[in-house]
Amino acid sequence: MFKRSITGSTLRVLSATPHSTTFPMIRPITNVLTRPLSSTATRAKNKAEDEYPNIAATTKAPQGASGGQEGRFARTDESVQISYPPDSEMPAQPVAQGRGGMHFKRTLDLFSLEGKVSMVTGGARGLGLVMAQGLVNSGSDLAIVDLNGAEAEEQAGKLVQQFRKENPGLEQMPTITAHYADVADPDSVNNALSEVLAKHGRIDNLVTSAGFTENFDAISYPFDRMKKLWGVNVDGTYLFATGVAKHLMERKAPGSIVMIGSMSGAIVNVPQPQAPYNASKAAVRQLAASLAVEWAAHNIRVNCISPGYMLTALTRKILDENPELRDKWISLIPVGKMGVPEDLMGAVTFLLSDASKYVTGAELRVDGGYTVT
Ligand SMILES: NC(=O)c1ccc[n+]([C@@H]2O[C@H](COP(=O)([O-])OP(=O)(O)OC[C@H]3O[C@@H](n4cnc5c(N)ncnc54)[C@H](O)[C@@H]3O)[C@@H](O)[C@H]2O)c1
Repeated sequence: MFKRSITGSTLRVLSATPHSTTFPMIRPITNVLTRPLSSTATRAKNKAEDEYPNIAATTKAPQGASGGQEGRFARTDESVQISYPPDSEMPAQPVAQGRGGMHFKRTLDLFSLEGKVSMVTGGARGLGLVMAQGLVNSGSDLAIVDLNGAEAEEQAGKLVQQFRKENPGLEQMPTITAHYADVADPDSVNNALSEVLAKHGRIDNLVTSAGFTENFDAISYPFDRMKKLWGVNVDGTYLFATGVAKHLMERKAPGSIVMIGSMSGAIVNVPQPQAPYNASKAAVRQLAASLAVEWAAHNIRVNCISPGYMLTALTRKILDENPELRDKWISLIPVGKMGVPEDLMGAVTFLLSDASKYVTGAELRVDGGYTVT
């Protein structure tokens, strides 16, 4: 509210303005300012406001005044506990159908990955497998790296078969190899890098998709599980990124790295508690930005894709055990649906290709709008 004295001085300033007589638009403003202001009316308004029923929904009211719904949709629930199962219990995944093939729709050649070698960690399953398939369909050779070496091997074979089926008559097949690595172990990472270089001769692009989540409230989160989570999600990303960057610098070659973060790096998911996972993904996002700056002069771009809720073995398990979460999750997504791994094919191809030549240090959120509401 303007006090009378302020109103007076404002008026003086306005009338002293040389243009005030020539600009008719000024006059309506002075009219507004000269409207009488009554402090009695303000007090009366405040009194009425105190009796206004929705005051119970503000911080003026005591806890619980607004009923049981207070904060109901914006809190974690410590009864939701989900541990990541042993690898042998995770189902294998079919390769995506019907997205590949030579096509004759016009598009920019900048999006092509023809002649490149791309490496995808966590590529035996889930988002990693489907993004890897997108890269092959965009012309790249591929090295899949995964803790589950046998499944990576099997999927590499299936990707070649699928590619052959979708590209009948094409003589040159992509080279697709599979390699074991525990991304959290530096020796294992170095071995995998040497193996990939021995098979492909070079690496141009990296996607770090190996990662997992678990749900326990922070107080009861088992410390050894937390260390494991950070080891895979953060150390694993760091070790592969630095390994590939070192190789690119030695070759004096340009390259592109895409780190798979999560919208959880920017928001707090509800109701399932997952503080260490959220923090690990915030670390991934900031790692991408920091390394982008550090390696920009070497022509190595580093970006982060932050997916929202995507249906993979990981989220399938969570939803199978907690079916009520499905409706809660989709009610929070503006698009109203969870994504599928295929929804990341375009995003990753864009960030690895020359189409995004001037994009580095960026976070591309693929979350159906979750994080903007
Ligand atoms: N699914 C989602 O909704 C979602 C959303 C946001 C972010 N993400 C992130 O995407 C990435 C992939 O998730 P997903 O849903 O595809 O999971 P997933 O469990 O389906 O696949 C993960 C893959 O990583 C591999 N892996 C796990 N630990 C490893 C290790 N130590 N070394 C090497 N490989 C290892 C697994 O064997 C598996 O093949 C993760 O980083 C995850 O945090 C997933």
